[in-house]
Amino acid sequence: ADNVGILAAEVYFPSTYVRQEDLERHDGVSSGKYTVGLGQQGLSFVGDREDAVSMALSVLRRLLERHNISPLEVGRLEVGTETSVDSSKSIKSYLMVMFEEAGNTDVEGVDCVQACYGGTAAVQNAVNWVESRSWDGRFAVVVMTDISLYPAGPARPTSGAGAVALLIGPDAPLVLERGLSTTHMAHAYDFYKPSGLYPAVRAALRERAGGAVVEHAAPAMDGPLSVYCYLSTLDLLYPRYAAKFEKRHGRPFPLGDAGRHATPPRPIYTFCPAPPVPRPANHALFPAPYNKLVQKAFARLMYHDMHGEVPEALAACGADLRDGSHPRPPMQMPRDLDKALVAAAFATYDRKVRPSTCVARQCGNMYTASIWSGIPQLIETTGAALEGRRILLYSYGSGISASMFSLLARAPHAPRFSLARLQATSDLAMRLARRVPKSPEEFEQAVQLAEQRYCAGNYKPELPALEELEPGTFYLAEVDARYRRIYARK
Ligand code: ACO
Repeated sequence: ADNVGILAAEVYFPSTYVRQEDLERHDGVSSGKYTVGLGQQGLSFVGDREDAVSMALSVLRRLLERHNISPLEVGRLEVGTETSVDSSKSIKSYLMVMFEEAGNTDVEGVDCVQACYGGTAAVQNAVNWVESRSWDGRFAVVVMTDISLYPAGPARPTSGAGAVALLIGPDAPLVLERGLSTTHMAHAYDFYKPSGLYPAVRAALRERAGGAVVEHAAPAMDGPLSVYCYLSTLDLLYPRYAAKFEKRHGRPFPLGDAGRHATPPRPIYTFCPAPPVPRPANHALFPAPYNKLVQKAFARLMYHDMHGEVPEALAACGADLRDGSHPRPPMQMPRDLDKALVAAAFATYDRKVRPSTCVARQCGNMYTASIWSGIPQLIETTGAALEGRRILLYSYGSGISASMFSLLARAPHAPRFSLARLQATSDLAMRLARRVPKSPEEFEQAVQLAEQRYCAGNYKPELPALEELEPGTFYLAEVDARYRRIYARK
């Protein structure tokens, strides 16, 4: 199949969230620490009534209903997650209910687990399947679903929750570019979940903590190390991607200033196709544990583009570069240079990155779904104007697994999944605006309850109240005495 990529994209986030400025006051930190320092506006959370499975069900149903996809049209379904509710059973198996009801059990794929990278691995699998001899002509669907929840302290404001579903197939408006993708895989203990889901481990942790509730659902993490791994992996991948681009197109890959010149002119006659013009990237998407890190990541790419020739103007921003020894990545960026780069890159960031960051700023870290939540936003904000543009993606999962690759936007032959049509049906900004903020105390109450119920059996969830869920949302109705989870739809 040709032009394989993303045909449609949907995002789901819980209706419950807390504003970061309220959290700042509640946590007693200096005003602006979370909103400016971390660049976050809101934090989505779930109580015990929603989990990674219910969010996956909600976003999958959204994708199928809003794009009129029959479950019979789907031949592959994969889930990227690091918030599994079972150490053996995949979240994909819960989603199969929707396909079984329609009489389709012929659906390949299971879950991909590797920190925030699982969703990207699932997308790669889905695209490979459609391009392969195994393909049977049906769509593939990828669902990413995660809840990030850190213990009270500096990491907590970077918690979040949400899910994304992507429809993958041929003749796509967003095509995965072949031959440019580059990957870095290594071993690191920057972020991991050692206790897993085993009740025995949980009991042992409790015993050690004198019977107190243990926030074992939260990862074991070295915050600064995780930031370093994220940025130094970016430093490794960007030159590799740029080299592949240059080899293929015979010209360098400057991310910085390509915007206005990047779209090839439209052909005057429709029967005369535009010549293949190699375009640099017009948009860049990053995983977003918090927005400031995205700003830093983008600024770092612009720094790479300077190839050590840092302009005077940057020094004027505050960077002390008088000795002329500009650090070459990968490296720990000196603090003044770091800040100066973010300031210098801001106008370009505003154009190329910000339009895809709203969900992550408003909902927090969605792990696997984080980077991919940028796609429905770009579609909503830009629509058919995306056609002819390249989107650069950096996908990072702690541990470490990371890839840099790109999507090319185009007008598909069939209008069913045109960018204009996708934009016209999108309601993302409206749904974000409809949410009513909760207080930090309500957030803590919900988190405590979810923690108590983690791995528990024989209970009916309580929070949030059913009335607070949006119509059509799936929720956990009961966990029975044998730990079987029963889901319902509002
Ligand atoms: N107004 C404006 N800015 C402020 C204020 C204020 N009142 N107070 C602090 N800041 C700024 C700081 O200057 C700093 O900015 P800088 O990064 O530009 O230097 C920023 O806010 C953060 O403050 P710090 O004190 O440096 O950091 P903190 O100790 O609060 O922890 C951290 C931040 C490490 C990111 C923490 O939130 C964390 O551990 N998060 C989870 C880990 C994570 O997300 N890792 C990312 C990749 S791995 C993954 O995705 C899981």
